[in-house]
Amino acid sequence: MRIEILNKKIGFGGIVSNIDLTKDLDKNIIKKIDNELNNLCVLVFKNQKINDEQQLKFSKYFGEIEGAGKNTTIRKSNERRLSDSFGDVSNLDVNNKPFKKTDNKRYFALGNRLWHTDASFKKVPAKYSLLSGRKVAKVGGETQFSDMRSAYDKLLESKKKQIETMVCYHSLIYSRHRLGIDMHKMMSKEEIKNFEPVKQPLVRMNNLTKRKSIFLASHIGEIEGMEKPDTILFVNDLMEHCTKDMFLYTHQWDENDLVIWDNRQSMHRGLYYDDQNEIRDVRRTTISGSEMLIAQ
Ligand SMILES: [Fe+2]
Repeated sequence: MRIEILNKKIGFGGIVSNIDLTKDLDKNIIKKIDNELNNLCVLVFKNQKINDEQQLKFSKYFGEIEGAGKNTTIRKSNERRLSDSFGDVSNLDVNNKPFKKTDNKRYFALGNRLWHTDASFKKVPAKYSLLSGRKVAKVGGETQFSDMRSAYDKLLESKKKQIETMVCYHSLIYSRHRLGIDMHKMMSKEEIKNFEPVKQPLVRMNNLTKRKSIFLASHIGEIEGMEKPDTILFVNDLMEHCTKDMFLYTHQWDENDLVIWDNRQSMHRGLYYDDQNEIRDVRRTTISGSEMLIAQ
């Protein structure tokens, strides 16, 4: 296994070669990958033609797989293309056809184009995400990553002090609201309870590297002790800082790429592609975090 660093200036992202993810992997190799994820946050594996079973097996080396969302009015269980262990990040319906432009499932999925970390709206937020590109867009559809440790390091000391103990409320309701989607109108009162905001600290630390990072996402809609409009502007300003060119790695997908990222220390978003005419079949497995970061 060999790793070449992608954003050398800040030590962010790596491309891994000389490894076959369809094979059984030695625990020392897994440990090395895990260490590199803590250090580099994003790892790219090229030419990994894996099936669902192989993706699940490889994912389980890193912890417990987080199940897909609940059966909702937006996507019912019988409308899922993939097993419950997968997050379907494609633009495809159960018949493998692109979602119609006005389909609520498409609207909902467009939230992935906002900067976010996966599952920060869960009490125990996710650790890693693994995304396998089974079929990728010919034009666009890149995934862009931001290094939230370097973004933290570059904050003014006064800003670091200001955000050190801040508590934010994350929910899919807030991120979708940014796109003009009102989940309250789409769902029953019972159903909407599954999306109640959860508390997360704005600054967190990696236990292995002891580096601090900003735990930011478009899922934030409230900050404790702050007025609503101030919150939105504060999040937008911080977003602008964290997504400066110097903190980024943009992944241009080739078929059979597999990308793993650390949600605890990075943010990401999908970029535009013509989802009405292109097919993008990308399948995500998510590794659960180990604990709540803050009492709810
Ligand atoms: Fe995501």
